[in-house]
Amino acid sequence: MCGIVGYVGSEQAAPILLDGLARLEYRGYDSAGVAVYSQRTGTLSVHKAKGRLQVLSDLLQGGAAVEGTVGIGHTRWATHGAPSDVNSHPQVSQGGKIAVVHNGIIENYAELKSFLMDKGVTFVSETDTEVVAQLIEYFYDGDLLQAVGRVLHRIQGAYALGILCADVPDQLIAVRKDSPLILGYGEGCSFLASDVTAILRHTREVGYMEDGEIAVLTREGIQCYNHLMQPIQKEIFHVDWEIDAAEKGGYEHFMFKEIMEQPEALRRCVFPRIREGEVYFEGFGLTEDYIRSIGKIYIVACGSSYHVGMVGKYNLERLTRIPVEVALASEFRYMDPIVDEHTLVMVISQSGETLDTMAALREARRLGGRILSIVNVVGSSIARESDEVLYTWAGPEIAVATTKAYSTQMALIDLLALYFARVLGTVEEENYRSALKEMLLLPAKMESVLEDRDDIQYFASQYFNHNSVFYIGRNVDYALGLEGSLKLKEISYIHSEAYASGELKHGTISLVEDGTLVVALATCGRLFEKAMSNVVEVKSRGADVLALTTKSHREEMARTANAVITIPDTHELLLPSLGVVPLQLFAYYVALMRGCDIDKPRNLAKSVTVE
Ligand code: F6R
Repeated sequence: MCGIVGYVGSEQAAPILLDGLARLEYRGYDSAGVAVYSQRTGTLSVHKAKGRLQVLSDLLQGGAAVEGTVGIGHTRWATHGAPSDVNSHPQVSQGGKIAVVHNGIIENYAELKSFLMDKGVTFVSETDTEVVAQLIEYFYDGDLLQAVGRVLHRIQGAYALGILCADVPDQLIAVRKDSPLILGYGEGCSFLASDVTAILRHTREVGYMEDGEIAVLTREGIQCYNHLMQPIQKEIFHVDWEIDAAEKGGYEHFMFKEIMEQPEALRRCVFPRIREGEVYFEGFGLTEDYIRSIGKIYIVACGSSYHVGMVGKYNLERLTRIPVEVALASEFRYMDPIVDEHTLVMVISQSGETLDTMAALREARRLGGRILSIVNVVGSSIARESDEVLYTWAGPEIAVATTKAYSTQMALIDLLALYFARVLGTVEEENYRSALKEMLLLPAKMESVLEDRDDIQYFASQYFNHNSVFYIGRNVDYALGLEGSLKLKEISYIHSEAYASGELKHGTISLVEDGTLVVALATCGRLFEKAMSNVVEVKSRGADVLALTTKSHREEMARTANAVITIPDTHELLLPSLGVVPLQLFAYYVALMRGCDIDKPRNLAKSVTVE
């Protein structure tokens, strides 16, 4: 979704803004713009361009063509008004004084627009954001902060705003409600951004804005206010992510880099959480008494994080015998969920900013549930609003299609399942020990899967021109199929569906004909025979079967399937963690062969901050 960058300091602002926007490109966008104030000429210049950021950057000679040391920049993901130069941000007020960048949606913009039009204000764009710029100018009588405060009382919806006023060009104003915005504290300069990766080159000291807060950024520092305009002190966090981690480092795509980083991410996520043969969560607030009192677990998430929840349900229920329900966050609010004080609500989110997931969290809390979140981005909104947080420590994930965040989320759910089962006495000692032993071997086993990537590239070359692909499997293999199918469709644009194998004959098998590609997932040993019979079933209708199974079942599978990908044998709990890697690679290579924009697939955004 939209990306915001702001800078006030002593260096030229435009190159800093363009560089910051480039680091936010992964969020998804369709146009970009900057507004910079020049102290020398006393003018606010605004430059915008539809399309790739490169178009804007070329126009501004990488920023060299724009003079001034204070400015705001934006990458826009269109909601109100088609992608165009005029609808791009910054949006500027009629008098040319106020420039605004915005992430989110102003729900009552139509009503405010007609109010302003009645007062004689002329609008040039179709955006909801222009209303904010015009309304600030309307209320502005020499006190910018007060004018912003009055606007905030009138606008409804979700917003992160960056505001620059030509009358007070030594400051920026930032506002946040339900849309992420962070503050960066530099030496003689201050920053504003949607995400730390945009400003990591300049500062590692950041503050996370809370809903309703307003910040005034100057060269001397940042002053924050609460919604009552009372000054507040913000906690400053030190970000220790390496800059390299947010750069491609020689890889052609972030997605491939992040796939390859998974073993290391798992080491960071898992190893510190196994101590002396036991699962150990430092500073964990869920007591043994609380765990014994849990009547039900809800897992709430979107997209791939939801797929982690699907696998998590199988693993948690098998080990703990606690009933687990998995809900799509976008549905949760509207399904009248049954949550009480004995319900543990596990919220899974890489970004920690997904609006639907955030809304579900708030609904679960309102109903009395206890919130445990699994999050990658430290200090993100979901992390801050949860009772307990377990961080995945996967490092920054830039590619839109998630990979290493999925794997680490999965590992954390498995560790939680083992931890809860140990407390509840529902896991046998031997099973517990062997699962933990295998967890420690998981990164090395994943490395061996990655080493076999040439085979997967070969299979991708055989199948990349199919128009439709089915993923089938049972139990955790079904949940794994959902993720494999999503990976393929989102980056290669091939239509694909995942089915629980047993469901095929209830309708879908009618779509299987000569040459249909079926990816048959058969990693789960106890269900292997059942998986085989589904392979036979689709083969006999002419399907091409690409199977995924463990080394010990390879031979048997190879007798029937057209091609077989194998993963090492491991504890049953961990099969999806290994199984997902070839599926990620398959999707990646297929998309590569089809010439797709892998890191920034069409219509998609990394962090989905609108409903
Ligand atoms: C798919 C993908 C998305 C996200 C979903 C939730 O590859 O990345 O489906 O999983 O948008 O995002 P988070 O986990 O940030 O809440």
